[in-house]
Amino acid sequence: MTTSVAPDYIAHWVVKTARTDEMVRWYSTVFGATIAYQDEGITFLTWDDESHRLALIAVPKPVRFVFPFAKLKRKAYGIDHIALTFVSLERLLENYVRLKRLGIEPVWSINHGPTISLYYEDPDGIRLEFQVENFDPEHTSAFFFTDEFARNPIGVNIDPEYLLSQLRNGVPHEELRRREAGTRPGHPVIANKKTITPKTL
Ligand SMILES: [Fe+2]
Repeated sequence: MTTSVAPDYIAHWVVKTARTDEMVRWYSTVFGATIAYQDEGITFLTWDDESHRLALIAVPKPVRFVFPFAKLKRKAYGIDHIALTFVSLERLLENYVRLKRLGIEPVWSINHGPTISLYYEDPDGIRLEFQVENFDPEHTSAFFFTDEFARNPIGVNIDPEYLLSQLRNGVPHEELRRREAGTRPGHPVIANKKTITPKTL
């Protein structure tokens, strides 16, 4: 029996948006979301066994002009992103290819060390991190206390297509999870604070 005071798991999140249709299309494409309920004010989306994972509250379209810099807010303050896990590197990278064909590309691709992560932004600029764990939780907890992490707590940018090509050539995730493994030969290694740009911030 758990004695935790924390809630048991995450249920859903809710977004006020002036772009409901665009958001529904994006989440349908990216998550395979379906509409669990919709009226003129609210849309419930689901993509797994939760009754609704994301609710969209429609606000009048002109509201977007009241918050012209809303997409930039997360770069400076408040919730930065929500991270969602794929259970294998292959599934993460196959999804990258699928979305790229549909014109949806990550704003940042990085091997943090504990995870390989592809960051996307929805039409309202909400950032979602699609990740695969590189290690089990105990190993990752220990990694936070290594010299390697002290030297570079952010990670090394990766080329997802290069990683996928190696995976398809039979190189296992155990080798590709090294932070340097995602840099295509002949290309510069972009690591630590150099990975932070106006786009990736
Ligand atoms: Fe994250």
